[in-house]
Amino acid sequence: MPAEAYTITLRPGYPDLLDLNWSHSITEWTDQRLVDLPRGISRHEVRFVATGQGIYAIKELPREAANREYGILRELEELDGPAVIALGLVLRPPLDPHSEPSAALITRYVEHSFSYRELLSGPGFGPRRVQLLDAFAGLLAELHLLGCYWGDCSFSNVLYRYDAGAIEATLVDAETSEIHPELSDGQRRQDIEIMIENAGAEMADIAASQGLSVDQADLLIGHDIAARYDALWSELAGVEQVPLDQYFKVTERVKHLNELGFEIRDIEVASHAERGHLHMKVHVADRNYHSNRLRELTGIEAGENQARQILADLSYFASKQPSDARASDKARALLALRWRVEAFEPTLRKLREHIGEGDPIQAYTDLLNHRYLKSAQAQRDLGTQAALEDWIAAGMPGYAIAPEPSQHPA
Ligand SMILES: Nc1ncnc2c1ncn2[C@@H]1O[C@H](COP(=O)(O)OP(=O)(O)O)[C@@H](O)[C@H]1O
Ligand SMILES: [Mg+2]
Repeated sequence: MPAEAYTITLRPGYPDLLDLNWSHSITEWTDQRLVDLPRGISRHEVRFVATGQGIYAIKELPREAANREYGILRELEELDGPAVIALGLVLRPPLDPHSEPSAALITRYVEHSFSYRELLSGPGFGPRRVQLLDAFAGLLAELHLLGCYWGDCSFSNVLYRYDAGAIEATLVDAETSEIHPELSDGQRRQDIEIMIENAGAEMADIAASQGLSVDQADLLIGHDIAARYDALWSELAGVEQVPLDQYFKVTERVKHLNELGFEIRDIEVASHAERGHLHMKVHVADRNYHSNRLRELTGIEAGENQARQILADLSYFASKQPSDARASDKARALLALRWRVEAFEPTLRKLREHIGEGDPIQAYTDLLNHRYLKSAQAQRDLGTQAALEDWIAAGMPGYAIAPEPSQHPA
């Protein structure tokens, strides 16, 4: 296309993005900064660029859809939702607003993420199936709690990342999404129906691409995700009856939800004194409980499960210090700083020498897991340095994968 006038809306802090050839469609770019990275199946053109400052994903799509998606991603970010971060929106007003190059959406590339295709083994997800189902059900439940109706929930529209012994899922395509103050049961159900249909079709495609019959496809996968979603939802959204003399149950419930990773927005308690009980409903927000605590304490960014493991490492470090080093908030803050300088950073430096382009935070949690397993085996504390040497000698193993339930195809 000839050079077109354009407008660009950018988040502060990304001046490097101004310098790209926005007057032309990304399909025409010959920029040295274009990088070829693996990506999922998509309707629109998607390209990646790596400037010195960061890596970005650029998707070209019709103007209205781009505007909408930008708005939804910004709203999800405000809610701390599990979605990619939108950094900019390019509009090319002279072009037909329904044409693909009429707009472009820029998002921050999610590092160390991969598509579901990398988890495939045979016609399904093999030993990774349970992790994937849980990640998917958790993502959908979290979005629904935040009032986000997805409208096109599929394996292709999610990015995956290893998160300690789990997989973390992030929404990547919000083109059809809507944000409401709260979702009705009907809206949630509809989203689940779409997910079941999309997931089934994706599994059938995978089987076909491997020359297998549709009977060999893992067609029940969507139903399995829905069952996990329902179990999680009833745990999150349920109203509980608490006997008047068991108020501690409120605290227990909050603790349990925090352990699942959920931040608590507020707790609603209605008394029914005449009937001898309270009704308690805990409103949960995003699923970043441990990653928020870790960031507050140490400034380290990590996935929710990674953060849980790393906080345990900080406690392990703290437990070896005299008790007055943990006596006050100030002392604990100092301890967190010491842990970072004396334990975390030196170990991370050593890990980086071995893992190449791998995710250093994931490597750190793999190492913590190895230290735990070896210490349990030896019935004594192995210590981080010895664990590191042993971990490298063993080929840097990750978390063992939970066995797959036998009723599903491999
Ligand atoms: N911010 C991002 N980080 C990493 N990968 C991305 C990002 N944005 C898009 N992708 C990749 O591009 C693919 C297509 O993006 P998507 O938004 O689903 O496009 P479409 O609307 O055309 O389906 C995704 O499956 C993903 O692999
Ligand atoms: Mg998509």
